[in-house]
Amino acid sequence: MKVAVVGTGYVGLVVGACLAETGNDVVCADVDAAKIKDLKANKLPIYEPGLEPIVVRNQREGRLVFTTDVGNAVERSEVVFIAVGTPPDEDGSADLQHVLAVATTIGKHMNASKVVVTKSTVPVGTAEKVRAQVARETETPFHVCANPEFLKEGAAVEDFMKPDRVVVGVDSPEAARVIEELYTPFVRTGNPLIVMDIPSAEMTKYAANAMLATRISFMNQIAQLCEAVGADVTQVRRGIGSDRRIGQAFLFPGPGYGGSCFPKDVKALIHTAEERNVPLDILKAVEAANERQKRLLFEKLERHFDGHVKGRAIAVWGLAFKAETDDVRASPALVLIEALLAAMETARQQLGSRVTLAGHGFDALAGADALAIVTEWLEYRNPDFARIKQLLKRPLIVDARNLYDPQKLGRLGFTYDSIGRPLGCASS
Ligand SMILES: NC(=O)c1ccc[n+]([C@@H]2O[C@H](COP(=O)([O-])OP(=O)(O)OC[C@H]3O[C@@H](n4cnc5c(N)ncnc54)[C@H](O)[C@@H]3O)[C@@H](O)[C@H]2O)c1
Repeated sequence: MKVAVVGTGYVGLVVGACLAETGNDVVCADVDAAKIKDLKANKLPIYEPGLEPIVVRNQREGRLVFTTDVGNAVERSEVVFIAVGTPPDEDGSADLQHVLAVATTIGKHMNASKVVVTKSTVPVGTAEKVRAQVARETETPFHVCANPEFLKEGAAVEDFMKPDRVVVGVDSPEAARVIEELYTPFVRTGNPLIVMDIPSAEMTKYAANAMLATRISFMNQIAQLCEAVGADVTQVRRGIGSDRRIGQAFLFPGPGYGGSCFPKDVKALIHTAEERNVPLDILKAVEAANERQKRLLFEKLERHFDGHVKGRAIAVWGLAFKAETDDVRASPALVLIEALLAAMETARQQLGSRVTLAGHGFDALAGADALAIVTEWLEYRNPDFARIKQLLKRPLIVDARNLYDPQKLGRLGFTYDSIGRPLGCASS
């Protein structure tokens, strides 16, 4: 099938590459000329495990083409995916300007009937706005579908190739047939392709992210309560996760959710609810809990330094909002670093530079007063603790990912403060 994917970010590039991998003739279009130039030279703008070989192979075999000419991409395709960004507007609602700009271009280049698919995360009613925008520019009949994407950064290729499910909202059996044809190779193992009406498909994406964000904030608050009452959240997690009604996933406490999706999607859903006068108190609490959680490591550091973080050098392991991605959008690590810098305002003036970036975890440690772990990269899981202790001025580790055993770290002579678990300290 001839497919255009407009927007070659984390989602568009993965969708385009994976659709080419299953034999479709795909053109990926983006207004960012530098990005397209790099992609043509097989230089990927993002880090995503397994993506590069698929891009290289399909480009070489001519099934995957990159262009800045969105109009031409539309003209040569039967199906057009809109995969551009939908960042939060000032009031928290999803900013649809990029989606609607693409819809206008699609309308102008509608040289034959096509299926227009919203892949971006968009509020209920957006597919209809896209339909109206396209129809302003053309008399040619076309279909609109809502096909939200559930891939996770860091496992995006795997998620797209073997999805738990594919959700698609359609306006006609004909559009459903086209989407089914495209997705059949990815749901061969029996995971469902769930066809529904368009508003329900749009809502499903927000409901899924809101549910996951809720689990995260719930566990983060339970973890804090564990600390206060002397319980261990790791044990509690195992205890509840084995209940099939609850399940194991998304029960790890951490530094707060970040990235380009959960924060903005929770905000956008709250906004939609407010617009319709529907109380969505639970998500407001989820958001407030997350904001507090992002400050937790800083507060722990403050406690360990008796309120005097100012002037201390802190090694931070991890900038991305989670492991296996280079995405730092809304990362809790940035909140910690900003808080540290604000505390160190005077030191900053003296030192001149705000942050020293180290290419290797150990390079950040020399002379630091403490280590703060924010991202759960594999290389941090089992490090050389003797070396860490030797490099740090004081053997203090605060860990938002609960990577180590508190008792073991205590035995090794560290003060080890993780989330929702007993403190590890030299005497423990
Ligand atoms: N990142 C994720 O993990 C993820 C997962 C599921 C859904 N989503 C949703 O998918 C959408 C895209 O997210 P992303 O992370 O890929 O965004 P991104 O910012 O990485 O990429 C968006 C791309 O669209 C391009 N673009 C903007 N306006 C354009 C236009 N008018 N014409 C052509 N290209 C244009 C930009 O240059 C950019 O390359 C968002 O709605 C997001 O919520 C993201």
